[in-house]
Amino acid sequence: MPCVFHNFHCLFYDLIMNYCECDIKNKILNLLEDHYNEAKDKPVLNYVPKQKLQKQLRGLLTISGSGDEALYNIIKDIVLPYSNNLQSPMYMGHQVPPVLPLAAALDYVISILNQSLVVSRMSPVMTLVEQELISFLAKKIGYDDQSGGTVTSGGSISNLMGLICARNKYFPDNNLSDAVVLCPEESHYSVGKNSFVAGIKSENVVKISCDDNFKTNIAELERIIIELKSKKLKPFIMFANAGTTSTSTFDNLIRIQEITLKYDIWLHVDAAHGGSLILSEEMKHLINGINQADSLSVDGHKMMFMPSSMGMFFVKDENALKSCFDDIYAHYLYNDTEEIIKLSKYSLQCTKRADAFKLWGCLLAYGTDFFAEKYEYLHKMAKYFYSQVNNNPLFETANEPEFNIICFRYAPKNTNLTSEQLDEINFNLRDIVNNSGQAMITLTSLNDVIYLRVTLTNPLTDKEHLTNLLKYISHSLRGILLNI
Ligand SMILES: Cc1ncc(COP(=O)(O)O)c(C=O)c1O
Repeated sequence: MPCVFHNFHCLFYDLIMNYCECDIKNKILNLLEDHYNEAKDKPVLNYVPKQKLQKQLRGLLTISGSGDEALYNIIKDIVLPYSNNLQSPMYMGHQVPPVLPLAAALDYVISILNQSLVVSRMSPVMTLVEQELISFLAKKIGYDDQSGGTVTSGGSISNLMGLICARNKYFPDNNLSDAVVLCPEESHYSVGKNSFVAGIKSENVVKISCDDNFKTNIAELERIIIELKSKKLKPFIMFANAGTTSTSTFDNLIRIQEITLKYDIWLHVDAAHGGSLILSEEMKHLINGINQADSLSVDGHKMMFMPSSMGMFFVKDENALKSCFDDIYAHYLYNDTEEIIKLSKYSLQCTKRADAFKLWGCLLAYGTDFFAEKYEYLHKMAKYFYSQVNNNPLFETANEPEFNIICFRYAPKNTNLTSEQLDEINFNLRDIVNNSGQAMITLTSLNDVIYLRVTLTNPLTDKEHLTNLLKYISHSLRGILLNI
């Protein structure tokens, strides 16, 4: 099979071209094709200060419009050249993948058909596609026929749905004054934000510390639960991580589940990043026990190479989800004489895009092994980069990557530099590397220390790219150190 990350033409362009009648569409798609095919060798970013871009975009919207040609020129001269180039193998930034060209084509099909998944009458085929996708992946998770789920806009909303299911189970009267949310220090920020949205007091969002490998401290989890209960507070949900945002670390789900079961607490696994490993026989040991979670989040638009947005929420007992929204009635929707499927009863949304179709279509065309190979390869590359960094006396790593994110920092042994100076140097390194356009990386703070963060999502990134990245970083470092 040809590498689908390379070949835009056959998978995307032909399909779209069949829809194109007017000139401007053809011109835009030609432009996009050229852009995509050259992206691999182009800079990751043509950095310009945002004020300059703002100036170019300001005041363009008018009553009469400026015409197709003006739009075409803006796409050609501003949108394509100054957007982040995610197809570059030197893009190692946030957890936003290079999209599969086939998924992009299917995204176009979704847009053109514009089926809404509120009720099956509005989406006779796509409703079934979503159900097929959810049930196929639920089996991969290890859930049985009682399970359910829904496609969401991403990990944040899936995490919110877990919280709502748990709240509905433990606080049907909505009296939340004693309700406590438990989450590891390394949780994604959506856990705190969602707790606020769900009506939990901010002081009742309790963080559990993590160990040196950024895994939840199980002993502390139990100790805190006992302490909260002794104060007559009610911890009702624990968010565990299957692939933390900062380091792609996996919690010990089996041990956490023992505790949540013992104290009758809902276990939601935030597997937005690492849940895709259900597709890899070789790597799914990292998510052992995931089938015991009450609910979980898995994102298609992270490690399944889908264009945004595409997330999924799974629940062990479908009734727990359905009972959240079952009594909602809308006479303008639910008025059929024949039995219809109402996916809106499983979702926070009314209008819902048929995003399931792009992942379902890619799984249909390529099979699960295609994805598994990519994860195994990216993990191999992460280990390679980790060893390269560890062998370099200028740098130290935060931990050995379990999956595809490596955190490291400039911190030579016996340095005279203060910790503040080291933080500042690492901070500046990120900007210098990124603004050069040679690579894109991110940074994070671990135990209040700044680390550079490399996320490998592009299966075209190889050892040479990673060696070059370390060279660029070392080169940028020399410039910074000269100015200290
Ligand atoms: C572990 C984890 N959970 C949740 C999210 C939020 O996902 P989304 O951006 O799709 O809402 C992220 C995003 O980075 C994440 O890494």
